[in-house]
Amino acid sequence: MRVVALNGSPRKGGNTDILIDEFLRGVREAGAAGEKIYLYDYTINPVGELSDRHSRRVDVHASDDHRLILNRVMDADILVLASPVYWQGVSCQMKCFVDRFSVHYVQPWFKEGMANKGWVVLTPFGAPDLSEADWIIKPVKVWVDHFSGKYLGEVAVSVFQKGDVVKHPEATQAAYELGKSAVEQMGVG
Ligand SMILES: Cc1cc2nc3c(=O)[nH]c(=O)nc-3n(C[C@H](O)[C@H](O)[C@H](O)COP(=O)(O)O)c2cc1C
Repeated sequence: MRVVALNGSPRKGGNTDILIDEFLRGVREAGAAGEKIYLYDYTINPVGELSDRHSRRVDVHASDDHRLILNRVMDADILVLASPVYWQGVSCQMKCFVDRFSVHYVQPWFKEGMANKGWVVLTPFGAPDLSEADWIIKPVKVWVDHFSGKYLGEVAVSVFQKGDVVKHPEATQAAYELGKSAVEQMGVG
């Protein structure tokens, strides 16, 4: 079993990063392998103009790093979308990655590669109200349905300053536990 965690935050050592590390610690504990990818380290352009005919769509940014990351995502059994809430949504690094799905929307290799995964959300946010996480959780759940995936759970925590999530052991522990349970939920070690 392979787990890929996409980090949509530009802050290495930030709250998203720490939640991912705890999640992957749980994944390893459950006997699976996990990989963390910092989207900010790659060039992933915003989606370019697309034909209205899905079958005629071409990737005008095919020479950037999107396909490299997409291949790793398609190989994964569990996909972790980890992003801070930025302006009531995922970060633009994460959104650029996801928007580019539309280039390949009807391609059988893409639909097959993205199907039947377990999906996880890890999201810190600065607002005090837990409902702020819904800006991310709700759309991701729609994406999961679109790809016939299985939503495995989330860790959402109100925390603003870099690294302060370590002051919320209930959140880091929840990420660790979710890592273990995600592997168990997908049924293979
Ligand atoms: C550009 C930007 C936009 C943000 N927008 C929101 C927001 O809309 N809602 C919110 O609750 N927090 C918002 N925040 C706060 C971050 O979500 C919060 O600091 C989070 O812990 C950052 O995670 P990180 O350390 O992994 O980068 C924003 C922060 C930045 C830098």
